[in-house]
Amino acid sequence: MLDINKIRADFPILSQKVNGKPLVYFDNGATSQKPQVVIDAISKYYQEINANIHRGVHTLSQLATDAYEISRGKIQNHINAKFSHEVLFTSGTTHGINLVTNGFASLLKAGDEILVSALEHHSNIVPWQMLCEKTGAILRVIPMNENGELIMAEYDKLLSDKTKIVTVNHISNALGTVNPIKYMIDEAHKFGAAVLIDGAQAVPHLKPDVQELDCDFYVFSGHKICGPTGTGILYGKEDWLNKLPPYQGGGEMIKDVSFEKTTYAELPHKFEAGTPNIAGGIVLGTAIDYMNEVGFENIQQQELELLEYGTKRLLEIEGLKIYGTAKEKTSVISFNIEGIHPYDIGTIIDKLGIAVRTGHHCAQPIMNFFNIPGTIRASFAFYNTKEEIDAMVDAVKRAKMMLS
Ligand code: ALA
Repeated sequence: MLDINKIRADFPILSQKVNGKPLVYFDNGATSQKPQVVIDAISKYYQEINANIHRGVHTLSQLATDAYEISRGKIQNHINAKFSHEVLFTSGTTHGINLVTNGFASLLKAGDEILVSALEHHSNIVPWQMLCEKTGAILRVIPMNENGELIMAEYDKLLSDKTKIVTVNHISNALGTVNPIKYMIDEAHKFGAAVLIDGAQAVPHLKPDVQELDCDFYVFSGHKICGPTGTGILYGKEDWLNKLPPYQGGGEMIKDVSFEKTTYAELPHKFEAGTPNIAGGIVLGTAIDYMNEVGFENIQQQELELLEYGTKRLLEIEGLKIYGTAKEKTSVISFNIEGIHPYDIGTIIDKLGIAVRTGHHCAQPIMNFFNIPGTIRASFAFYNTKEEIDAMVDAVKRAKMMLS
């Protein structure tokens, strides 16, 4: 069981007031808050070992390089990757997906098919559309039902020898649906297709095991798991990463350069051109340590309670509809109140200290499916409480009264 008061004391921002009211932070799907240990690690890096990595023989450069590679190893263990060179540092999920789509430009031909799910964030739609424009490949959509679940019978029908890539999120950012990715990966592999999993919304709630999943790529952002913004990870199977050409040319990603010919460095450096976010990469390791100390079982138990309690309390409000009622769901509640624009509710409850996201959540196809402009999204983290849910429900009731 979590000692919730102790956990909350780790996050200095949670005890502050916003608009004169105690902050209730329910926008964890957008970004998580940071514990003191992460905030301290950033300043410790700059105070004690700041230097460029992989470049100098000098002591600080060695210390920074070691810390960066230790962090890579921590992430490798966390996701159970076979090799540390399968773990690439990126600036976030979007960067990871674009790196992969860019690489596939040289591997696809006209008529090849890419399957994308109806539940995707724009960052897992647009790069694939750009890839289709470049190559003549065709994008096909795995449909969803009214509960916000992907329809596996339709998925099975879409898979064929033409399918080269399947891309799907582990958990939907807009609805919280947990997708049956193990099944999807296994089925795609029967047709020789590669599978990319967008894990951005999954890693705050669970520990992915990339070898057990057998996915070809798994991408996520550091800032959603208590780490700094501008950090992320692309896991790729060694074979695939060797097949894909580099994303960016520059320093650190080469073996030899002459004006006639350049040969590329080994993994992971082939994909890590330029000076990266060194502090961020190191502190991502600190954040992962913190999450593991809290423990993913504890995190899941707390979040499940919040999801159940929040769902029950919100449904007390007349005219309130929840979008995303999948059987397998994480701690995200997307809702609307009949006749009221989500933005208006969000603006009023912000004045009462409640932070939620309103709008289409960068998932316009989902909003189009439900024929709505957007939703109010409350996304809970392990450091949230039932009392905070009560405060949100009261605030939503007040907003509803003012707007009706
Ligand atoms: N993708 C993030 C969200 O869902 C930003 O809010």
